[in-house]
Amino acid sequence: MLNKIKEHILLVENFEAKSLELVEKFRIDYLGKKGVLNDFFAAFKEVPNTEKKEFGQFVNELKNKAQEKVNQLKENLEQSEENAGSGLDLTMSGESMRLGSRHPLSIVKNEIVEIFARLGFTISEGPEIEDDWHNFSALNLPEEHPARDMQDTFFIQTNPDVLLRTHTSSVQVRYMEKNPAPIRTLSPGRVFRNEAISARAHCIFHQIEGLYIDENVSFADLKQTLLHFAQEFFGKETEIRLRPSYFPFTEPSAEVDISCNICKSKGCNICKYTGWVEILGCGMVDPNVLENCGIDSKKYSGFAFGMGVERITMLKYQIKDLRLFFENDIRFLEQFTKA
Ligand code: DAH
Repeated sequence: MLNKIKEHILLVENFEAKSLELVEKFRIDYLGKKGVLNDFFAAFKEVPNTEKKEFGQFVNELKNKAQEKVNQLKENLEQSEENAGSGLDLTMSGESMRLGSRHPLSIVKNEIVEIFARLGFTISEGPEIEDDWHNFSALNLPEEHPARDMQDTFFIQTNPDVLLRTHTSSVQVRYMEKNPAPIRTLSPGRVFRNEAISARAHCIFHQIEGLYIDENVSFADLKQTLLHFAQEFFGKETEIRLRPSYFPFTEPSAEVDISCNICKSKGCNICKYTGWVEILGCGMVDPNVLENCGIDSKKYSGFAFGMGVERITMLKYQIKDLRLFFENDIRFLEQFTKA
């Protein structure tokens, strides 16, 4: 029995712990109710009288050593915890997270969508990978139609019926196929053309398509809607001018210019000294297109327009190089803060 106590005394003397939890476990093992020391105290009765004195001395020594060890380890550990924490200033203010900013194209797209939403237009979307019908044929651009050349198209080699949409007019077709007139919808989206990348052109860009179908819709409605948009977006003093143009899906067709908001129509290199800048194409939806999409062209008429979001964003913020939109340089992107 004495040898056992002496063994424990050695163990206690050599005990080391790296955490307060381990010290506490050690304390419970030795000094706790069910600990080693209580076992020895309980065994005291069985010890022959002649040995009681020596036994008692060793048990006491073990108890004192265990207690001492606990106190000393605790103190050391608490001290080193304090030292480790001393470099911390808990009152220092935190480092704030850098907030991202919205992409200028998204800011402009949202603004345009809001203007038309106030006129009752809903949002519609379609796939970027299209078929021939929705991108061309239904829009009065049958195979071999020369106007297909206006839009350099990405096809896939194995199936000429699969292509990347060249304009968001494809969404018009999808929308009319699924929804009865009257229709008021706006279709923003990404489009693709096989163009060499330069400051003025890119193979990926964004368009917003508008479509309005009802009974007795006239060219005057189109003109007034676009004037309203131009003045809401570019400012109340903005004027618009319509130039006759050609698109296979509209008849008559027009291109719309706004008065140059940069030089106030005095002439600058943005408007090429004409005082006007082009912002979109539009026209009265060709009756063939209505019929292709299951809408009665005797009862209904309507207008459509399509604008390039990059172009309008470049005008709004006076950005001279279209490639900046796709480079994702934070120094460029963080200059546009409006949510
Ligand atoms: N889809 C034409 C383009 O990408 C833009 C356009 C012109 C859309 C006239 C229209 C429209 O809806 O009526 O060049």
